Amino acid sequence: MQLEDIRDLVREDLQSLDRTILDRLASDVVLVNQVANYIIAGGGKRLSPLLVVLGARACGYEGGRHVEAAAIVEFIHTATLLHDDVVDSSELRRGKDTANSVFGNEASVLVGDFLYSRAFQMITQVGRDRVLETLANATNVIAEGEVLQLMNCGDPDTTEDRYLDVIRRKTAMLFEAGTRIAAILAEQPREIEDALAEYGQRLGVAFQLVDDVLDYRGDTDEMGKNMGDDLAEGKPTLPLILTMHKGDDDVRGDIRKAIENGGDGVDDEQIKAAIGASGGLDNAYEMAQQEATAAIEALSALPDTPFRTALESLALIAVERSS
Ligand code: IPE
Ligand code: IPE
Ligand code: MG
Ligand code: MG
Repeated sequence: MQLEDIRDLVREDLQSLDRTILDRLASDVVLVNQVANYIIAGGGKRLSPLLVVLGARACGYEGGRHVEAAAIVEFIHTATLLHDDVVDSSELRRGKDTANSVFGNEASVLVGDFLYSRAFQMITQVGRDRVLETLANATNVIAEGEVLQLMNCGDPDTTEDRYLDVIRRKTAMLFEAGTRIAAILAEQPREIEDALAEYGQRLGVAFQLVDDVLDYRGDTDEMGKNMGDDLAEGKPTLPLILTMHKGDDDVRGDIRKAIENGGDGVDDEQIKAAIGASGGLDNAYEMAQQEATAAIEALSALPDTPFRTALESLALIAVERSS
């Protein structure tokens, strides 16, 4: 299935999601509305809320609370992006100037806090203890992931394991929480809940691996965010780590220097050429493909429905994407 077919399958849920998001954004503080609408109206792929909706439907859920749950996940995701763009000094997001570029760092951080706390107000409406527990845990782990990554920045001795620990926390955790709460709402047995959660986790890892490949090999216009940010920050992502392991002493030295100096004093093009030639980018991409395959396998515990097929297709789309 293509992304459009998948969206068609849950068209009404997604329309209801849009209404819920706009509805729950409201605040009587003008700047909150401005910043929140700016980033939300900027679109985004809405991948994590789509997982919640499809996950619930794949479990046969027929109630209406999955839409609220999906909106909560999108709010948490958006809050992390507002904060992340400040931390990363990023200037482009969703094809527009970032909120921090337009409104400043202060407004971005504070409105990020607004979105986080609004998400938790909404969770009380969903009214399920294990949904609350799952999302509270996820936001905490995401914060740890971003802090761990901050500690790795500038450190050329960051290992593949430390990198994987970061991306499981900062990215995969929210996908995992989203698919888990879908199963919880649908009152599934633990086995199904864990299978969907594993799918979410593996999809999230695949998604971030691809994100890190696209940062070197993507297209700024298609992605709507600037390429090369990772190198400029001295962020040791998998393509760099793998290239250091494979490359000769010269390449290793150049990459160490690039990570230590946040890209200063090194030739970006030369580093890009090295990670391409060494196979570092291809290998990181292959790992994403393997994770996506494992994500699809985890779904075999679920009944065979069009919603399960859609989730399977999404795992492939998350890897094949260019935006
Ligand atoms: C960015 O997510 C943060 C990561 C998890 C890598 P997206 O690139 O999916 O953000 P959207 O599509 O704009 O919401
Ligand atoms: C996004 O991470 C934020 C989280 C996943 C919490 P990145 O910094 O890797 O992603 P982009 O490239 O800014 O979207
Ligand atoms: Mg970033
Ligand atoms: Mg970041």
